[in-house]
Amino acid sequence: MCGIFGYIGKDKKQASLVLEGLKSLEYRGYDSWGIVVNHNGKLKRERHTGKIGQSRTILPESDTAMGHTRWATHGGVTEANAHPHFDCSGRFAVVHNGIIENEKELRKLLIKKGHKFTSQTDTEIIAHLLEEETKKYHGNLSQLVSLIAAKLDGAFALGVMDRDRPSEAVLARFGGPLVIGLTEGYKLFASDPSALLPFTRQVIYLKDREIAWITPDNVEIMSFDNQKKRSSVTTLDWNVEKIKKDGYAHYMLKEIMEQPESLMNTMRGRIDIKGKVKLGGLEAVKDLLRDVEFIRFMGCGTAGYAGMVGAIILQELTPVVSHMEVSSEFNYSQLNWPKNSVAWFVTQSGETADVLISIDKVKSERIIPLGLVNVVGSSVAQRTTAGVYLHAGPEIAVASTKAFTSQIAALAMISCWLRQNRSNGRNGYSKSADLGMSLLKLPLAVAKTLKLRPQVKKLAKLLSGASQILFFGRGVYYPLALEAALKLREVAYFNTIGLPLGELKHGPISAMDKNRPAVVFAPFDKTIDKSRSNIQELLARDIPTFVITDKAGGKKLSDLSCEIIEVPVVHELLGPVTMAVVVQLLAYEMGLLLNRPIDKPRNLAKSVTVE
Ligand code: G6P
Repeated sequence: MCGIFGYIGKDKKQASLVLEGLKSLEYRGYDSWGIVVNHNGKLKRERHTGKIGQSRTILPESDTAMGHTRWATHGGVTEANAHPHFDCSGRFAVVHNGIIENEKELRKLLIKKGHKFTSQTDTEIIAHLLEEETKKYHGNLSQLVSLIAAKLDGAFALGVMDRDRPSEAVLARFGGPLVIGLTEGYKLFASDPSALLPFTRQVIYLKDREIAWITPDNVEIMSFDNQKKRSSVTTLDWNVEKIKKDGYAHYMLKEIMEQPESLMNTMRGRIDIKGKVKLGGLEAVKDLLRDVEFIRFMGCGTAGYAGMVGAIILQELTPVVSHMEVSSEFNYSQLNWPKNSVAWFVTQSGETADVLISIDKVKSERIIPLGLVNVVGSSVAQRTTAGVYLHAGPEIAVASTKAFTSQIAALAMISCWLRQNRSNGRNGYSKSADLGMSLLKLPLAVAKTLKLRPQVKKLAKLLSGASQILFFGRGVYYPLALEAALKLREVAYFNTIGLPLGELKHGPISAMDKNRPAVVFAPFDKTIDKSRSNIQELLARDIPTFVITDKAGGKKLSDLSCEIIEVPVVHELLGPVTMAVVVQLLAYEMGLLLNRPIDKPRNLAKSVTVE
């Protein structure tokens, strides 16, 4: 949540460049935005509410600039609450991503000392703290920031500029992400590496409790207690084309359409033609995982639903007991860990605050944390012992699409790998080899599913007048029903709910009528006859029912008087991937019909870095 972008150089084009950087980070928060420059010995800023859109900056070009795009936490969406924030003297400018939990006490203390606040944000406190500190301390800017960082509770990624030191900026990180871009003659920083791609692929990921002192020619990394640290430079393996819309009207559509490719990238080099899976990232924990008996997957939102699908696939393939727990619930409950347990964190961004807290908690419970992460070098990737990268490429639209399908494919690969590597494999390798080979056929099946867009568009029209839509599924299709409900809520602001199909008669059906239709996921599998009966029960009560099935299921259900969409037949555990494509297109088409801001739904942000 919140995007930070900064530039420290010598060629006086910073303000407009920072604005471009902010535009590429706007999916992190779009309540308001602002930029500050150091111009002729003065800090000058502009701040605005709303999205950046086609705005141009009115600031003069200068040597150092930084900007912020906000997802409001403390204080409403007003210009006064927009970042950057200043101290009373206008010497320090601060941009911040995160939450300062002891803001109330600090604010009181600072007011007592005579500081005048102009906003309701927690961020402004940091600027005043810096001003207060300079009354007794005159060291360099990084030392000053380290003194302040020690006073802050909560999570933060900070960018600080000092009017009196025009060619430098200092960053501090505890919780929120920050990445520094390296180029000859100037340096950049951003909340997300994708924003740096147009400029450089050489980056330094700032770690927790680290401070970076940045000048046009140098980056120095220190710990919060002022010990110099070695920085390791990473080369980004994404290319700049991946962060462009490529002629699509929205990132969401682009990301839906590129799923055949993103799935291929997730599997590339990891499955051989006999279906054997190789996952280099798990080699370090191979012995530990050989006898694992319990895996608790954790995540939030879409990633959590992928984890639910993964937990079911794993249990179909191995004797490992597995379960998905929503991170925010896990964090404040006392859940037990049986013998030989591991925790596995599923997250696209690798920056979700609830997930990071879960990692700290499992570590304190002496459980090994593993990751399934898309963003290389992200906090979750750094804090887990080992794991698997998704390699799905940057996902920009707030609603997750290609990460979900890649997460399911990766979780299926992990299940195969765990089965292959068990000390007492169940029924040999054939079951995992079968799933492994089926995974290789997924990209083609997804490409064919994408061709169903005209049919899905029709379905969107039929559903758009409903007052509520109920999604139902069994087994791996129950988490898909939850994901479908989430996708339509996120993108179309639609009143939806996802339920296990077997629960239909245990309450939901009484609240359904012609304005509250059902969408049922009913592929051809061992439960098709049960699903057929449930669909008939709905139709018998004149409840409009729409079925998403596969070609084989279509034959079984064709005599029923309801709209049916048929996806290609895939392995029975992988159907949520092809059907997810229908769900995503449906959410997209409904969002379009209802004129929603597809890529940036109201009140949401892509990377949720606060609890
Ligand atoms: C937010 C987004 C969801 C996303 C969730 C988890 O709530 O709106 O679409 O699924 O965060 O994000 P992560 O980056 O951890 O996968």
